[in-house]
Amino acid sequence: MKDRLLSDIESLKREAMSELAQVADSATVEACRVKYLGRQGLVTFILKSLKDLTVEERPEVGREINAAKEMLEARLAQLRDSLKKVELDRDVAAQKLDITLPGHCLPRGRRHPLRQTMRDVLRIFTDMGFSIHTGPEIETDYYNFEALGVQADHPARDMQDTFYVEGGYLLRTHTSPVQIHVMENQRPPICTVFPGAVYRRDSDVSHSPMFHQVEGLMVDSNITMRDLKGVLSTFCRRMFGSGVGVRFRPSYFPFTEPSAEVDIQCVICGGSGCRVCKQTGWLEILGCGMVDPVVFEAVKIDTKKWSGFAFGMGVERIAMLKYAINDIRLFFENDMRFLEQF
Ligand code: PHE
Repeated sequence: MKDRLLSDIESLKREAMSELAQVADSATVEACRVKYLGRQGLVTFILKSLKDLTVEERPEVGREINAAKEMLEARLAQLRDSLKKVELDRDVAAQKLDITLPGHCLPRGRRHPLRQTMRDVLRIFTDMGFSIHTGPEIETDYYNFEALGVQADHPARDMQDTFYVEGGYLLRTHTSPVQIHVMENQRPPICTVFPGAVYRRDSDVSHSPMFHQVEGLMVDSNITMRDLKGVLSTFCRRMFGSGVGVRFRPSYFPFTEPSAEVDIQCVICGGSGCRVCKQTGWLEILGCGMVDPVVFEAVKIDTKKWSGFAFGMGVERIAMLKYAINDIRLFFENDMRFLEQF
């Protein structure tokens, strides 16, 4: 019995070693482990037969079988290690990774031309000492119209022009109501600009139902039309170039007196006359004027002590002139071919 077991162990060792010599992948290594060392394995089978030996015979056979087991385990571990390396090399080669190819670049974002124009406009005014304020887009009739001297029968209140919201509210048609909010909350001196969206029932190549304005208000002692002209001429020259012609043309707004519109020399034809400036050589870019006493009364600012000017401009219009864009809708369609040009 003992001799048979010893020779079994010998042939098992030989068989296992020659089998392992052929192995070329880790799945087969694992199969061999199960075959010899697994719970139903051949080594395990011999170990179980030890109980049939006499107590004297057991140690010798036990030593032999343990030595065989250790030898096998060592060989298996060695095989596993070397095959892991071989297989990794094979995987890498099979993936055909070409490290000389360019990487995947994330598309680069940029500012929307309207945002950029808004920032440029605000920057010019903050450089001149203006602060920035914002106000609500949903307004009452009082702030949008009444406090600004726009009477109840004024055509600007028409259903055609204004979006009315339930509960007596409306979407502001201009940023001028922020003048009232600021003057209700702050005493002069005031030197502030208010950017934001405004809404009108209007839609064609040069009008959008939602567009943006930047409004400005300066109130102090001895503010005159000269201050207005100085500030707005400076703005035009910084925005459109130091050589650009600027003119102030008399106009009318219910909340300023006197009122003016500011024109710049046509940026397309340089003033000789073209389709964009309707052959006049000039382009209107903003409305302005000295704050009407009616407005000061509404916010209880003493007109004997204080005076001021206000102005308002459309950001889309400024951007269209600056970048020679002929359709306002391009700003809102988010066509990448358009946006990528800025
Ligand atoms: N609120 C006027 C508009 O929307 C512009 C304006 C602002 C005019 C301030 C004068 C003073 O057209």
